Amino acid sequence: RPAEHIRIVEVGPRDGLQNEQTSIPLATKIELIERLAKTGLQTIEAGSFVSPKWVPQMANSSEILQHILQTPPASPHPITYQFLLPNVKGLDNFLAYYEPFSSKQTTYPTPPPSPDNDNGPALNTSSEDPNVMPSGAEAVGSSRATSGVPEIELSIFTAATESFTQKNTNCSIAESLERFTPIMSRAKTLNLKVRAYISVALGCPYEGPNVDPHKVADLALNLLEMGADEISVADTTGMGTAPKTAELLKTLNAAGVDKSDLALHFHDTYGQALVNSVVALEHGIRTFDSAVGGLGGCPFSPGATGNVATEDLVHCFHSLGAKTGVNIEKLAEVGDWISGELGRRNESNAGKAILSR
Ligand code: HMG
Ligand code: MG
Repeated sequence: RPAEHIRIVEVGPRDGLQNEQTSIPLATKIELIERLAKTGLQTIEAGSFVSPKWVPQMANSSEILQHILQTPPASPHPITYQFLLPNVKGLDNFLAYYEPFSSKQTTYPTPPPSPDNDNGPALNTSSEDPNVMPSGAEAVGSSRATSGVPEIELSIFTAATESFTQKNTNCSIAESLERFTPIMSRAKTLNLKVRAYISVALGCPYEGPNVDPHKVADLALNLLEMGADEISVADTTGMGTAPKTAELLKTLNAAGVDKSDLALHFHDTYGQALVNSVVALEHGIRTFDSAVGGLGGCPFSPGATGNVATEDLVHCFHSLGAKTGVNIEKLAEVGDWISGELGRRNESNAGKAILSR
C-alpha cells in the first residue's frame, strides 16, 4: 500500500480527561492543548458542552473555547478544534462564546506543499518558536506558525444500542437523532462542520459484545443524510477484534457508507486497538481518533479504559509508510508530561520506549 496521509484526531483533552475523578486545573487542560498543538497534530478535540452534573470534569470547556479563540495556541500549521455537544442547550452554551468570534473567522493560508519524503504537512523548522523544533525525518520543510481565529468544529454523539444511549444521554436513539436536527441546521447556517460519533459499535457494556453492524450502518447513513460531515465509529468498550472490525467495515461499505466519510475511534481495553486500526487502514480508513498517553474513558462505559495512545498509533502508521505530520518525539514528551500531571501511568508503549532510548 503506498504511503498516504492519515488524519489523527487527538481526543486527549476531551475523551482523555472527561473520566478523571480529580478536578484537573483549567491551566493544565490549556497547557495540554498548547503542547499538543506543537506536535504536528491537525485536529484536537478540546472539550465538551455537556451537562456538568453528568460530566463535572468538562464543566470549564467554555473557558477552553474562549482561550482557543482569544489566544490561539502556537502551531506549525492550522489546527481544527472540536467541541462535543449532546443537545441544543450545549449548542447554545457553545455559541454564547463562539458567535462573537465567528464574524472574525479567517481562512488560513494553504500550507506549503509537502516534499515526497515528508510525514504530512511541514512542521516549523524556523527558530521563531523554540518549542517547535525540527526532529529528524519527521520535521522537514518550513512554515510560519499560524495565527488568527482557529477553525472550530462540532461533535455530536449517539450510540448503536438503546441501553448505552439511555445511560449516556438519557434518551432513546431516535430521540438523540431528533436532538441533532436543530443542531445540524444551525451548524450549517454558521458554516460549522459536524462530526457524529456512533458509540458501542463493536460492543456494549450493557448489551454485550455482539452489536448488530447493520444498526451501525443504518445510523451512519441516517447521520450523513442529516448533514454530518464525518462519522466516527467508536469501539467504546474495546471489545472490538480484528474480525469484528473487518465485518463492521464490510457492512458499512455494503450499505453505501463511503470510507472517506468514516473515522475509527478505538479504546484499548482489551489491547486490540492497534490491530483493529491496521485492519481499518487496510479497509481504506484514513482518519483515526486517539489520545496522547492512552488517556481516556467514558464515564458511562464501566470497565472501559483509555483510547489507543496517539504515540502508538503514529509509530505504527509510520512503520507502515503512512504519513501523519506528527513529530513523535515531541508527542511522547506530551504523553509523559500529562500522565505525570494526572498521576497516571503512561499507557503508551511507544511513548515510553522513545523517551528511554
Ligand atoms: P438530562 O438530565 O436528561 O437533561 O441530561 P435535561 O434536558 O433534562 O436537563 C436537565 C438539566 O441539565 C437542566 O438544568 C438543563 O439546563 C441542563 P436545570 O434546569 O436542572 O438547572 N442541561 C445542560 N447543561 C449544560 N450543558 C448541556 C445541558 N443539557 C441540559 N448540554 C444530557 C441529558 C444529554 C444533557 C446529559 O445526559 C449529558 O450531558 N450527557 C453527556 C454524557 C457525556 O458527556 N458522555 C461522555 C461523552 S460521549 C463519549 O465519551 C463517547 C465517545 O468518546 C465515543 C466513544 O468512545 O464511544 C464520543
Ligand atoms: Mg471515546
